[in-house]
Amino acid sequence: MLQTFPKDFLWGSASAAYQVEGAWDEDGKSLSIWDVYVQEPGRTFKGTTGQTAVDHYHRYKEDVKLMADQGLKAYRFSVAWTRILPEGRGAVNEAGIQFYENLIDELLSYGIEPVVTLYHWDLPQCLQDEYGGWESRQVIDDFAAYTKVLFERFGDKVKYWVSLNEQNVFMSLGYQLAAHPPGVTDSQRMYRANHIANLANATVIKQFHDMGMKGQIGPSFAYSPSYSFDALPENVLASENAEDLNAHFWLDVYLLGRYPRAILTYLEKQGVDLDIREGDMKLLASAKPDFLGINYYQSNTIKFNPIDGVGQGKMNTTGEKGSGEEGGLPGMFKRVANPHVERTNWDWEIDPTGLRIALRRLTSRYDVPILITENGLGEYDKKTEDNLIHDDYRIDFLQKHVDEIEAAISEGVRVLGYCTWSYTDLLSWLNGYQKRYGFVYVDREEEEGGPLTRYKKDSYFWYKDLIAKHS
Ligand code: BG6
Repeated sequence: MLQTFPKDFLWGSASAAYQVEGAWDEDGKSLSIWDVYVQEPGRTFKGTTGQTAVDHYHRYKEDVKLMADQGLKAYRFSVAWTRILPEGRGAVNEAGIQFYENLIDELLSYGIEPVVTLYHWDLPQCLQDEYGGWESRQVIDDFAAYTKVLFERFGDKVKYWVSLNEQNVFMSLGYQLAAHPPGVTDSQRMYRANHIANLANATVIKQFHDMGMKGQIGPSFAYSPSYSFDALPENVLASENAEDLNAHFWLDVYLLGRYPRAILTYLEKQGVDLDIREGDMKLLASAKPDFLGINYYQSNTIKFNPIDGVGQGKMNTTGEKGSGEEGGLPGMFKRVANPHVERTNWDWEIDPTGLRIALRRLTSRYDVPILITENGLGEYDKKTEDNLIHDDYRIDFLQKHVDEIEAAISEGVRVLGYCTWSYTDLLSWLNGYQKRYGFVYVDREEEEGGPLTRYKKDSYFWYKDLIAKHS
């Protein structure tokens, strides 16, 4: 018999502080690396920033009311470290605590489960300036101290915690591809900083368990399962390379406490030194997440890439369909277009079955409960003159993914919940405001200003019905 969603399934939706809050310099908040980075010319689409974002900081009550009316069961949001500890460490900013306390209380008053992300990319700039942020082991203590404040203040109200959001993305884009702060292109630095982030993640998970916290904690990972383009053995091998390097390199550390051997060997041959010190591997092995969060958007189709083959290709951040380029790692793999699936205007491949494949693979390898912390469709949405948003393409996208989750559950996968990306429209880091993801349309253009009025899209009502059907 087809097993379906359990009654306590977390039907949720998600956001991140920098992408929704705005109020970038209010109530004692200091600058994060994103506040500074977006001000450098040419970094983001049309120079967009999160200075106002969608003003969730001032409109959180209105946003939570929309969630409550929809019947949402869980809301995943991130805390801005810069609101809690403006100096990165030390003195707690009570106004920052108050904002999140209010948000959590508001959610709980409607029976909505808060899912709190500790770090969604907005490191305090002062720590970047002082010691190079993730490149110094000092960040481990500072991250642990910051998260301890959150555990102590909100531990009696919050049951689900996400440690690092997409370490694979903020490391690769920050230190290899220079697309995120700190804008570096240096693999050696990336791998070392990444090892430090692993230690920070493990330290915080261990701290959570040592403190005897009641809830559950896990990282959330951007997982795009790799497919071989075809049965040509060298493409299959390239696909193994991609899966090892793009996924197992992080997930094995989180869940098995070790790096994949083939990648360690590869890095050694490249002359990369992770700077693994005594005690590091013991720490990594001692901090088991309670669940694995996955952010699923698309799969990766892989071909062999010769040593003089393609390197990093151009990302489509403009919404001009077809402007993205093939990219890869010479000698290891390259990503090519999957001829069997459709693409969005930002060239993201639409592959609902890929989510089921992801859930199955992760369950086979790690046998851990999974919380889908993000899944959604970024598209242009048009508001009609009578303020309606007919996003049937989003409904179609989400419905097909939900069907695949249900199928995976019936195949034995343990799924705790499903958080769509995103709740309201928000700032898409490099792609501006025109790439919309929400159930709730926010009336703003790329430029600052705009009324920021909220409108329910058709997908808002679709999700409302879906949740009601399963409650
Ligand atoms: C994930 C992030 O990478 O994907 C989100 O956790 C992000 O913060 C989302 O917004 C969609 O990506 P993008 O680039 O379209 O905004």
